[in-house]
Amino acid sequence: MATTALIVAAGRGERLGGGVPKQFRPLGGKPVLRWAVEALIRHPAVRSTRVVIADGQRDKATEALDGLDVGELITGGAERADSVRAGLSAIDGDAVLVHDAARPFCPPAVIDRLLASLEFFDGAAPVLQVGDTLARAAATLGEPVDRTDLVRVQTPQAFRLGPLESAYELWKGPAPTDEATVLRAAGMKVAAVEGDPALEKLTSQADLERAQQWLAGCLTPRTGMGFDVHAFAGEGPIMLGGIKLPHTRGLAGHSDADVVLHAITDALLGAAGLGDIGEHFPPADSRWKGTDSSVFLAHAVNLVRERGALIDHVDCTIIAEEPKVGPHRAAMRTRIAEIAGLSVDQVSVKATTTEGLGFTGRGEGIAAQAVASIRMGFWAK
Ligand code: CTP
Ligand code: MG
Repeated sequence: MATTALIVAAGRGERLGGGVPKQFRPLGGKPVLRWAVEALIRHPAVRSTRVVIADGQRDKATEALDGLDVGELITGGAERADSVRAGLSAIDGDAVLVHDAARPFCPPAVIDRLLASLEFFDGAAPVLQVGDTLARAAATLGEPVDRTDLVRVQTPQAFRLGPLESAYELWKGPAPTDEATVLRAAGMKVAAVEGDPALEKLTSQADLERAQQWLAGCLTPRTGMGFDVHAFAGEGPIMLGGIKLPHTRGLAGHSDADVVLHAITDALLGAAGLGDIGEHFPPADSRWKGTDSSVFLAHAVNLVRERGALIDHVDCTIIAEEPKVGPHRAAMRTRIAEIAGLSVDQVSVKATTTEGLGFTGRGEGIAAQAVASIRMGFWAK
C-alpha cells in the first residue's frame, strides 16, 4: 500500500501565542514541525511525506525542514480542512496519514495500528479514553455528560485516499476539525485504534511546557573536557576568555590564540562526541588565520544544540603566572556566556599558577582546561 504522510502546518497557533506559530517553536533543540515530520518520515510504511504550510511561512518551514525529503511545500488555506484539501489534491497513492504538525511525538506503534486497520476500514483514528468527569459549564457547572463511550480523537488518522477524497467532496457542513468526521458523515466506517498520550496536541502554552518537561526527562547527562596551550611570542595584547587584555607579550597561534575559548570549545565538542576543534577548524586552513575564537565556540555551541542537547554549564581553569586573571574574571564570564548563549551563572572562570614550576611557571605560555556539562536526548542524530 503506497502511503503518503500529509502534515498540516498552516495554522497560526493563536491559542498558544508567543508571536511565532507553535509549529515553529523550538522543542528540545528543533522546531515542533520537524519533530512531527521526522516521526512519520522514518516509519518504514511511509513512502512519501508532504507538508502543508501558510504562504507567509515558507522560509521558516524550509529552514525547519532542512535536509528532510518532503518535496514541494504545499500552500494551505484559512481553516485546517482547507489545508488538508490542498494537501490531498497534491498527492496520489493508495493511502494517506493526515497529521497535525502540532503533535510532535508520534510513536511508530500507533502508525502500525492505523495502517493495519485499513485492511478492513476506509479510515482509522487513534483515540484515548476520557478519564475526567465531563460536564457542560459556563460561569458555573451545568449538566454532567456521560463519559461512558466518549473518547478523545487524535491524529495521525489513516485513510484510503479515494474514499477520503470523495467524502470531502460530499461534505457540506462547517469546517470539520478532523477527517474521521468527514468520512463518517459520508456513511463510511472509521476504526478507533488505541492512541497515545505522547500524541497530545500542543494547543496552549501549558501543553508546550509539558512537552518540554517530558523531553527533559529523556535527557542523559554527559561531560566533556578540553585542554589547550599557547606559547608567548611577540608583543601583547592577548585574547583570553573572549576579551582583549593588555600584556607585555602576545600569544603565538594560528587564530587569535585564545586558550580559554579553545579549551571550552573542545569540552563542548567532547561532551557531544563531535570530535575536536582541530577537526572542525584545521590549523592548516588559511581561512582561520587570525580568526576571533568566538567563531569556534559559537560553532561548537550550534552543533551541540543541533543534536538536541542542552548545555548546562561550562567551567574552565586558566593556568598562568601572568597576567592576573582576577580583575578580568567577571568580564570573561559575561563574554563567554554571550558567545555561547548561556546565562553568566552557567559559566565559571578560575585561574591558578603552577608555583613557578613547568612551562607555565617559567612564563613560557598559558594553558587552559575546561569541562562542559550537557544533557543529550535519545533523538540525537
Ligand atoms: N492548521 C492548518 N491550516 C489551518 C489551521 C490549522 O494546517 N488553516 C494545522 C495547524 O498548523 C495544526 C493543526 O492544523 O498543526 C491543528 O490545528 P490547531 O491545533 O487548531 O492549530 P492552529 O490553528 O495553528 O492553532 P489555533 O487554533 O490556536 O490558532
Ligand atoms: Mg486552529
